Amino acid sequence: MNTHHGTHGNIGHSRAGASDIALAQLLELDAEVLAPYLTELTGWLADLARPAPVRILDLGSGPGTGSLALAHRFGSAAVTAVDISPQMLHRLHKQAAVHGVAERISTLEANLDEPWTETGEAGSYDLMWAAAFLHHVADPARTLAQAFENLRPGGLLAVSEMDFFPRFLPEDTGIGRPGLEVRLHAATNTLPPHEWTDQLQDAGFTVEERRPFEIRLDRTQAGPALNDYAQICLAKLRSHATDVLDADDLAAWDALLDQTQPHSITRRGDLGVRTTRTTWIARRP
Ligand SMILES: C[S@@+](CC[C@H](N)C(=O)[O-])C[C@H]1O[C@@H](n2cnc3c(N)ncnc32)[C@H](O)[C@@H]1O
Repeated sequence: MNTHHGTHGNIGHSRAGASDIALAQLLELDAEVLAPYLTELTGWLADLARPAPVRILDLGSGPGTGSLALAHRFGSAAVTAVDISPQMLHRLHKQAAVHGVAERISTLEANLDEPWTETGEAGSYDLMWAAAFLHHVADPARTLAQAFENLRPGGLLAVSEMDFFPRFLPEDTGIGRPGLEVRLHAATNTLPPHEWTDQLQDAGFTVEERRPFEIRLDRTQAGPALNDYAQICLAKLRSHATDVLDADDLAAWDALLDQTQPHSITRRGDLGVRTTRTTWIARRP
């Protein structure tokens, strides 16, 4: 496992570089817009994780929105954020300083597909967090086995996944035929949501909860980052739609994504967010 403790470092050794920076921006906007959900989720976790966790491991932390939320929720915990991307960890360091929790968050640059030799002694974590991560690893069963090994008996693993890409637009956008976003999702979201219950049990965990969070936020609840978040998400979906939508729908999408147009996603006042995220709470017996 390639590791780097305590500092972002290693910025020159890049696996993906620019795409990681773009993903970090998207994940930060995601956390800003969905802050009410993240607050509810960590509050729920605080009810289940008693006594309050002291050592927390954030698996595939990205830019650390989960690490920050956990550091705020559990005021005396030390959080270790692990990610393969130095760009993500660099961003996390900056954000931890901005949030005033830098002394309680350390980073570990590591490939979690390899044996976890640097995460510390076996059985030493009280809580692990794996948000939008488990589906990235080569062998989830092996990753879950290592998570199990690194948790103390009684410790919790929280696994969270996005069931489907967020939706933002009203049925009739004023551009093209109504129902455009529904058609885009139907054409591009073709895989079923991730399901981890069996694999968690196979790894030895007791699955205590499996909770889908139905997120419905209007523009006031979502806050000022909503339009930028929607623009980035919908541009990403559009990039998968070229061969699956007809020419009229593609032209309508391009008009919506054109920031110079009055109806564009970045200028609209009628956006909201609708999505579902599922969280599993698994305990090491
Ligand atoms: C979709 S992002 C989620 C980030 C963060 N958990 C969040 O919810 O915002 C997935 C993250 O997993 C990291 N990742 C993917 N494969 C990895 C691996 N084998 N070892 C460590 N990190 C990995 C990526 O670099 C990326 O930051």
